[in-house]
Amino acid sequence: MATLALVISLAALLASSSAQNVMTEEADVHVWSSVSYIFHGEKTPLRGLKATKESLTPLGAHQMLDQGSMFRARYIPDSVDANMTRAPIASLSADAIDNTQISVIASNDIYVSTSALAFLQGLYPPSSHAYADGAGGIRAAGLANHTLVDWPLHGYQYPAMEVLSVLDPNSVWIQGHVACTRYQQSVLHFIDDPTVGKIYKDTLNTYRNMWDKYFTAAFPENLATFEYAYDLYEYAAYQFNHDKDTHHQMLTANTSYSTDLAFLAELAGTQQRDLNGNLSVSGVVPGDMIRAISGRMLAGKVLERMKLNIASKGANNKLNLMFGSFEPFVAFFALSGLVNGNSAGDFQQLPNNGAAMVFELFSVGGNASTYPETHNLWVRFLYRNSSLPDTPFTPYPLFGDGNFPGSMQYVDFASAMQAVAVDGIAGWCNLCESINLFCQALKSNTGGSLDPTLSGSHGTNTSGLNPVVAGAIGAAVTVFVAGALLSGAMVFGGVRYHRPDGKGRTGFLGGFKGARKMASDTDVSYSKSGARHERTSSWELRHGGKKAEEQVTTSGVGAVVQPKNVARSTVSTKGDDDDGFSILEHTPVKPREDV
Ligand SMILES: *[C@@H]1O[C@H](CO)[C@@H](O)[C@H](O)[C@H]1NC(C)=O
Ligand SMILES: *[C@@H]1O[C@H](CO)[C@@H](O)[C@H](O)[C@H]1NC(C)=O
Ligand SMILES: *[C@@H]1O[C@H](CO)[C@@H](O)[C@H](O)[C@H]1NC(C)=O
Ligand SMILES: *[C@@H]1O[C@H](CO)[C@@H](O)[C@H](O)[C@H]1NC(C)=O
Ligand SMILES: *[C@@H]1O[C@H](CO)[C@@H](O)[C@H](O)[C@H]1NC(C)=O
Ligand SMILES: *[C@@H]1O[C@H](CO)[C@@H](O)[C@H](O)[C@H]1NC(C)=O
Repeated sequence: MATLALVISLAALLASSSAQNVMTEEADVHVWSSVSYIFHGEKTPLRGLKATKESLTPLGAHQMLDQGSMFRARYIPDSVDANMTRAPIASLSADAIDNTQISVIASNDIYVSTSALAFLQGLYPPSSHAYADGAGGIRAAGLANHTLVDWPLHGYQYPAMEVLSVLDPNSVWIQGHVACTRYQQSVLHFIDDPTVGKIYKDTLNTYRNMWDKYFTAAFPENLATFEYAYDLYEYAAYQFNHDKDTHHQMLTANTSYSTDLAFLAELAGTQQRDLNGNLSVSGVVPGDMIRAISGRMLAGKVLERMKLNIASKGANNKLNLMFGSFEPFVAFFALSGLVNGNSAGDFQQLPNNGAAMVFELFSVGGNASTYPETHNLWVRFLYRNSSLPDTPFTPYPLFGDGNFPGSMQYVDFASAMQAVAVDGIAGWCNLCESINLFCQALKSNTGGSLDPTLSGSHGTNTSGLNPVVAGAIGAAVTVFVAGALLSGAMVFGGVRYHRPDGKGRTGFLGGFKGARKMASDTDVSYSKSGARHERTSSWELRHGGKKAEEQVTTSGVGAVVQPKNVARSTVSTKGDDDDGFSILEHTPVKPREDV
């Protein structure tokens, strides 16, 4: 019934949609808040470069800076870039960063937090004698003797960022799969899936042939399989960008794919879609979509940010930036139906470094000084799949309506997002059965009962845990028991510990093929494919043996792999109704059903 209601309201919207679509390009659109999740810039690969810790590369920093500049062009009222679609956010500070208007969260991986910084340097480049009113303005810059003090480095802008470690409860919003025990257990057995087994066999020869060409220096031969698809691709893409010989070799076609790199990219995408976007896999609770946990958490955070903007009538949370790995992209693409929609081809590929998904809260008509009523608020989803200059912010319809022009009413959006979101950190602890210490603290706080279906009926608070309490718990826990937690997590939770020397990245204990595959090499450590500690492999056969023709375009040294004619996937969600997890002020729906 709830589903039907959504369908009907979407249909009603559709009727007026063409008018809305035109209007969104006009000047009477007011964007009130933008919430984005941004993939970090190019980093050194997990494997292959000995004695380095995964770090942002200079190319990666440029990708982030470029993306930040594009956000500047879009949102900052006074910016000029004639070719970029603009959507200025009212009263967003123009030249001087006002940290009260912006919220930035990043995971504490070195290459993610530095990516965030590079992005922010593009968003607010150095600007001499620029002083934000929210930061005390010009008065704060003046001295008693009437000297005006500029910021150092010719007006460098200092962004405030929350950099969250896995010990911080709030980290689950941007990396919900990390330290999620049930997720780790789920991906542990993916190799046993017959669908996966078939891809493994079908691609084995191709991988082995490529091992000779590209991977001998970095991987033992037995790792050149679909099982390590992401790691292989990441290493290959890195070499493609940085190594002259590999660059040329990678462009040779010797499969049914146009290039070797295109093959690796496609298979990595297939694997990660299964690991993070196979919605039919459950953990503790049937239908809990455990593989997509990172997307479910992100959905909750996106909605929370918008609610904060609404609650403050547009004063706070104007620009909300989150930085992390690719898993939440893959998971959200599945949860929102993008991966099955009319533009499936755009969403079956992994995001390119610097890619951004963007949710904009806006209204049409009225004026920029009056915050609209909630029923006049709209949301649109945009995806910018790389940081390359000619990539537009492209709108796409969410939640399965192929004809929908990419905008939906906020109330419908909120309802659909809450249906896939996990409501709060306590809910995450439950679904994940995480042994993270903040989960233990939450449990004792609530007398041990943390029913996810009960965790959330509390109005606008989507966190389920008062953020102040969460922060206090996080801090206390971190100080006193970080060591105990870490060792516990390594034993039970599948958290890998990065040794400071960067060498001994220990594998999951008993995780994936830890023992089986690691014995062969002491220099290189092997995790599951994906990205570092939270990374895991994934399987999903969407192409059923059908080959996608691919084409590689390059711009500068940045590689963009662009498959064409990607077969449409048909993931069934029958029996996966997630009403049990929604926690809403809004009617629960099952948004992924085709309309
Ligand atoms: C903007 O677009 C025009 C026409 O497509 C092009 O000639 C021009 O170089 C572009 N400018 C920038 C700054 O990209
Ligand atoms: C004012 O004080 C600052 C800091 O003490 C000093 O650097 C600056 O030269 C002074 N300006 C004048 C005009 O005296
Ligand atoms: C394809 O690769 C195999 C193994 O690397 C090689 O023997 C064969 O000659 C290649 N074929 C072409 C057309 O490049
Ligand atoms: C904006 O709209 C509100 C309500 O329609 C009106 O009261 C206000 O005067 C308008 N402000 C400007 C600057 O036009
Ligand atoms: C998703 O997971 C289920 C359960 O493991 C499996 O049967 C199915 O083949 C997977 N779907 C795809 C498209 O791989
Ligand atoms: C990126 O997006 C652009 C524009 O939406 C599209 O033309 C292109 O094919 C996409 N490329 C990749 C690699 O996804």
